[in-house]
Amino acid sequence: MTIYANYAATTPALSPAVTGELREYLGGVHLNAGRNFEGLEAGAITLRARRAVGKLFGVTDPLRVIFTSGATQSLNMAINGLVRPGDHVLATGVEHNATARPLDLLRKNGVIELDWLPCAPDGSLDPGAVRKAIRKNTRLLVMTHASNVFGTILPVRECFRIAHEYGVLTILDMAQTGGVLPFTMGDSGDAGICDVIAFAGHKGLRGLAGSGGFVIGEAACGAMRQWISGGTGSVSHSLDMPDFLPDRFEPGTQNIIGILSLAASAEEILGVGVETIRERERASTARFLSGLRELKNIRVCGTLDPDRCVSVVSVVVEGYDAGEVSQLLFEGHGIITRSGLHCSPLAHKTAGTFPGGTVRFSFGSGTTEAEIDRILAALEKL
Ligand SMILES: Cc1ncc(COP(=O)(O)O)c(C=O)c1O
Repeated sequence: MTIYANYAATTPALSPAVTGELREYLGGVHLNAGRNFEGLEAGAITLRARRAVGKLFGVTDPLRVIFTSGATQSLNMAINGLVRPGDHVLATGVEHNATARPLDLLRKNGVIELDWLPCAPDGSLDPGAVRKAIRKNTRLLVMTHASNVFGTILPVRECFRIAHEYGVLTILDMAQTGGVLPFTMGDSGDAGICDVIAFAGHKGLRGLAGSGGFVIGEAACGAMRQWISGGTGSVSHSLDMPDFLPDRFEPGTQNIIGILSLAASAEEILGVGVETIRERERASTARFLSGLRELKNIRVCGTLDPDRCVSVVSVVVEGYDAGEVSQLLFEGHGIITRSGLHCSPLAHKTAGTFPGGTVRFSFGSGTTEAEIDRILAALEKL
């Protein structure tokens, strides 16, 4: 039987409850929210999703939840909406290209000055690096919550607190951690330290591909310009975008089926509890890491401490090309991994695994102990 160990790329199956809701929806009539009376149902679905997702990220006002096509669009909207010509921006040396490319494009176009905060080879970051790097014109700090290559969790609370001391706005990329690692922006002691959280729908949130969004705090909301504009079904007499949320950042027809998947899955995750999910995933990672320690010729590129990472583990098998290992694991043992650079050349440069890359194992809701043991046995054979 096939073993899926590529949850960091996408969650392969929706839960039966989510699938059931989507089937029912697809069997009915599909209308556009805010464009006609009959579209009220789509509006109700969207509001339900805003409530559930808002709760997951600690936002009491559901209108602060904005839906997009995913973390990539959200990061582009937040970054481009917040920076002004001449600003200095900081991001870490393990960012995904969803952050790195839009920032580097702004730098190349002469709009911003950009510095990458240096991370240790295992992907960890000393928060002191933020204080050292801040300049008079620093406007924005963008950080991934956990590296999608090594799984290493970054000290975002400490870094964001330092940034806020200097009036620097903060964006958190929770593509890898939404629904699997607790973090809230509003009501639980994190108040005010994070200005925008970008999330992906199709990973830990277990929704459909092509769904996702961002949640926005008050300070960023005042400062963020629209990066995409268009029809919203509101204030239609004006060529300006509406100044109220969520319309201000949601032009065009929304991905209602994706949003419905998020409503249903976020409610399910709230029912189980992100802490419980985190504990389960921590246990899978701990079992895998402790098994890897016993294996010769395999180097773990991130931390070996399961408390310091999410369920993402990158390895180098001495003497083998990463792609070759992935292929052998699949062809010989039915194990699905991802090899290469994982859309994060910066992270691989940090770890010294550029350009060859690593073999990445990532676990999720369907991973069992037996599967972890079978992966370890396959690696031992190899
Ligand atoms: C850390 C990180 N950021 C951003 C993204 C992009 O997310 P999306 O697929 O929702 O655009 C990913 C997806 O691989 C990711 O791992």
